[in-house]
Amino acid sequence: MTNDRRPLIWHLYPALLLVALLALLAVSWLAVTSVRGFYVQQVEEDLAARAYLLQAKIVELLPVAAQSRDQAGAAVVPPPPAVGAGGTLAALRAYCREAGRGAGTRITVVAPDGLVLADSEQSPEEMENHGGRPEIIAALAGNQGSDMRFSASVLYDTMYVAIPLQRDGAVVGVLRTAIPLTAVDEALAEIQRRLAASGLLIALLVVVAAWFVARRLSRPLEEMRAGAERFAAGDFAGRIAEQGAAELAALARAMNRMAGQLDRRLKTIDNQRNQLQAVFCSMADGVLTVDEQERVVELNQAGAELLAVDAEKIRGQNIRVALRNSGLQQLVSQVLRAGEPVEGEFTLLDQRGRELFCRARGARLAELTDGGSGAVLVISDVTRLRRLENLRRDFVANVSHELKTPITSIEGFAETLLDGALEEPDEARRFTAIILQQSRRLHAIVEDLLALSRLEQEGGRPAVPLQELPLLETIRAAVQICAHRARERGMPVAIESPENLRAPINPALLEQAVVNLVDNAVKYAPEGSPITIGAEEDAAEVRIMVRDQGPGIPAAALPRLFERFYRVDKGRSARMGGTGLGLAIVKHIAQAHGGRVDVTSQPGQGSVFTLHLPKKPAVSRSPNETLTEG
Ligand SMILES: Nc1ncnc2c1ncn2[C@@H]1O[C@H](COP(=O)(O)OP(=O)(O)OP(=O)(O)O)[C@@H](O)[C@H]1O
Ligand SMILES: [Mg+2]
Repeated sequence: MTNDRRPLIWHLYPALLLVALLALLAVSWLAVTSVRGFYVQQVEEDLAARAYLLQAKIVELLPVAAQSRDQAGAAVVPPPPAVGAGGTLAALRAYCREAGRGAGTRITVVAPDGLVLADSEQSPEEMENHGGRPEIIAALAGNQGSDMRFSASVLYDTMYVAIPLQRDGAVVGVLRTAIPLTAVDEALAEIQRRLAASGLLIALLVVVAAWFVARRLSRPLEEMRAGAERFAAGDFAGRIAEQGAAELAALARAMNRMAGQLDRRLKTIDNQRNQLQAVFCSMADGVLTVDEQERVVELNQAGAELLAVDAEKIRGQNIRVALRNSGLQQLVSQVLRAGEPVEGEFTLLDQRGRELFCRARGARLAELTDGGSGAVLVISDVTRLRRLENLRRDFVANVSHELKTPITSIEGFAETLLDGALEEPDEARRFTAIILQQSRRLHAIVEDLLALSRLEQEGGRPAVPLQELPLLETIRAAVQICAHRARERGMPVAIESPENLRAPINPALLEQAVVNLVDNAVKYAPEGSPITIGAEEDAAEVRIMVRDQGPGIPAAALPRLFERFYRVDKGRSARMGGTGLGLAIVKHIAQAHGGRVDVTSQPGQGSVFTLHLPKKPAVSRSPNETLTEG
C-alpha cells in the first residue's frame, strides 16, 4: 500500500462497505432460509389439515374395487365404476374438482397401486402412475408423506402432502393435496427486495460514516502536513495543534519538538555564518574559495580589489576564465590536487599596470558545496614588503659600495706611502692630499647618513622645531655657501623673492635643503648657464624653486630620483663626487616641515625643483616609512 495515493476515504470506504454488506448478506440469508422454512412448514401443515378435512368424504366416495390390476400401462383405462360400499368414480372426481376449486388446492386421489383415480385439475387418464412419488410411498405405508418439487403440470415448485385413506384399518388409497409455492416465493421476494433496499441504504450510510471517520483522521494529518511544509520553508513561528487520536497527537508533538530543535540549530548556524561572513568581508587579505571544478564559489572584498574583478560577476565561473592569472590558476590546481596546505607566490598587474607581488596560502576544503569539496586560498599583497626588502638590501649594498670606494683609495695611497713614497716629498704630499680628500668624502657620506637618520627619527617625533621666520635670509645664506663653486663655473645665481615672505621653518635644515638643490644645479648644469632661486606664496603654502638650464632628468628616472643613493648617471655623478644622498635629504627636510619636494624636468631643457612648505604644517609621517623609503 506504500504507493497507494488514493484519499483516505477511499481506503476506509471499501473495507467498511464490505463488512456491512457481508453482515447484511448473512442476515438476509438467515432470514430468507428461516422464513422459507417457516412458510414451507406452514403450507405443509395447512395442506395436511385440508387433507384430513376431506379424508372422510373421500373415503366415502372411494369405490371399493378402486385399485387397478394393471400396473404396467402408463395410462390405464380406469375400470368401470363399481357399485357397492363406496361411491362412484365419477362422483369422486366431481367432488375432487369441486373441493379443489373451493379450497384453492390441488386434490389428487391415488389408488394403492399408484393409479390416479381423481384429480382436481387434470384428467386422471392423462396422468402417469404416481406409485413412485415419495409422498405417496409414505402414505401407502400408513404415514403422512410430504414432498416439495418442481411440478411439470403447473410449472412451479409445488408442495405435496399425502395421507393414507383407510377403510376398516386397511389402506385403500391415498389422498394428496398440493399447492404451488408461488405465494411463498412472492413473500420471500418481497423480503429480498426490502433487504436489497436496506443494503443500498446501508451502503449510503457507510459512505457517510466513512467520510466522517476519514475526515476526523485526515484533518489532523492535513494540519500536520501544512505544518511540516511551513517548517520546511523555514517558518518556525507556529506550532502544529496536538489534536486527534493519541497517535496523531503524539506525532504532532514529536514534529513540534523537531521544529523547535531545527529552529535553534538554524539560528546557531545563522549566527556562525554571520560571524564568519563578517570576518570574511573585513579581512585585509583576499579569500578565494573554489569548488572541485575550479569554479569560483566566493571571493571577498579585499580579494576582489586585489584581483581587480567583480566578485558577484565571477561567482560560478571557472577561474581560468574569471581570473586571468596563470600563477594563481596553477596554485589553485595544486591545492586541489595536494592533500596538505600549499603556499606559493605569483605576480599581478594592477589597474595602473604596476606589478604586484602576492603570496597565497591554500588548503583543501572537505565539504564546500553539497557533497563537493574544494579549496580556499588566502591571498596577501606583499608588494610593499617586497619593495621594502629590496630597498633595505639596496641600501646596505649602496652604503657598502659608497664607503668602499674612498676606503680602497685611502688604503691604496697609504700603502704606497709606506712602500717608499714617503721618501719623495712631492709624491708624499700629493698622496696625502688624496687621502685627506677621500677621508673628507667618507666624512661627508657618514655625515649625510647621520643627517638622514636624524631626520627620520625626528620625522616621527613631535616634529622638528619650526619657527616663523623670513625665508629670504635662509635662501641668501644657502646661496652664499654655493657661491664659490658657482663662480668657479661661471654660473650666475639669481634670487627672485618678495622681501617679506615668512613661513614656519627650521632655518638650519632649510638652508641645507636649498644648498643641496643649488649644489646639484651647479654640478649638473653646463658651465656658464644661469641658476635662479625663486620664492612665492599662496594662502596655504610657500614655495622655493631652484631652476637651472642643465641636461634635465629623463622621465624614467623621476620616480626614483629622491631615493637614497639613486643617481641618474652613476659614472658622471661619482666623478663629481656625488653619492646620491643629496635629494633624499632634501625630501626628508621638506617632510620635516610638513611639506614635500617635487621636480619638473625635460631632458635638454633644464629642471625645476620645488620645495613646498605649508604655512600650517601638520607633520604626520611614521618613522618606519621614512626609514626605508630614502
Ligand atoms: N639639477 C639637476 N639636473 C640634472 N640632474 C640632476 C639634477 N639634480 C640631481 N640630478 C641627478 O639626480 C641624481 C641624484 O642627485 P643627488 O643630489 O641626490 O645626488 P648627487 O648629487 O649625485 O650626490 P650628493 O649626495 O653629493 O648630492 C644625481 O646623481 C643626478 O644624476
Ligand atoms: Mg647632489
